[in-house]
Amino acid sequence: MKGIILAGGQGTRLRPLTDITNKHLIAVYDKPMILYPLERLTSAGIKDIMIVSGRDHVGHFLEYMGSGHDFGVNFTYKVQDTAGGIAHALLLAEDFVGSDNMSVILCDNIFEQSFKKYVDNFKGGARIFLKKVPDPQRFGVAVVKKGLVKKIIEKPKHPPTQLAVTGFYQYDSQVFGFIKKLKPSARGELEITDVNNAYIKAGQMRAEVIKGFWSDAGTHDSLARTIKWAMARKTK
Ligand code: DAU
Repeated sequence: MKGIILAGGQGTRLRPLTDITNKHLIAVYDKPMILYPLERLTSAGIKDIMIVSGRDHVGHFLEYMGSGHDFGVNFTYKVQDTAGGIAHALLLAEDFVGSDNMSVILCDNIFEQSFKKYVDNFKGGARIFLKKVPDPQRFGVAVVKKGLVKKIIEKPKHPPTQLAVTGFYQYDSQVFGFIKKLKPSARGELEITDVNNAYIKAGQMRAEVIKGFWSDAGTHDSLARTIKWAMARKTK
C-alpha cells in the first residue's frame, strides 16, 4: 500500500496566511498542518509516501520534511505545475504507485479516526469515508439509497444528505485509467468526485462512516475550529 499526500492547490481561502507559505505548512496549534495527515498514514503502517505540491513554496516542504528519515518513512516528491484539481494531482503519482494499491489523503483534512484496519484489509476497488456534518454544501455529498452510496454530488446547493465525503480515499491502480477519461469541471479542475462516481458506476466502491473529529481546515473558520480541537486534545 502506497501513501499519497495531496498538498497542492492555491490556498486562496486562507489568504493572507498563504501569501507567506503553503497552506499545509501553517500551524495547527503546535505543529504544521501536514503532520496531521502524515501521522494518519504512518500510524496505519504506510512507509512509502509521495507528497504532491504546487510550485509555490515547494522548497519549504523539501527543507522541512527532507527524505522522510526523521519520520521513519520514505518521501517521494512531485510538483503539480498548475492547480488542476485533486484528480489531476493524483495522476502525477501513477509511476510511483505502479500496480500497488494506495491510500490518498488531502493535506488540509484533519482526522481523529485511525485508518489502520482499512489499510490492512483493503482488497481493491475503491473506498470512501463519510462524515455527517451540519454544512454539507461545502463538500462532496453522498446520495444514499437502502444503505448504499448511489452517487456523489460536488458541493450541491441542496444537499440530499448530510454525509460529506472526507479527504481520505483508497484506490487500486485502475484509478489512473478513470482519471485519464475525465473532463475538467465547470471550475476547470479534474474532480475527485468524478473519479469516485466512476468507481460507483463500475460497482466497485465501498463507503464507511468515520468516527471522531474531522475537519477540512481550508478556511479561516474551519482552521480555527481545528486548532481548538487540537488544543483540547493536547491539554486533556
Ligand atoms: O475536504 C473534503 C473535500 O475536499 C471533499 O468533500 C470534496 O469532494 C473535494 O472536492 C475537496 O473539496 P475542496 O474544495 O475543499 O478541495 P480543495 O480545492 O480545498 O483541495 C483540497 C486539498 O487537495 C488541498 O488541501 C490540496 C489538494 N489539492 C487541491 C487542488 C485543487 C491538490 O493537491 N491539487 C489541486 O490542484
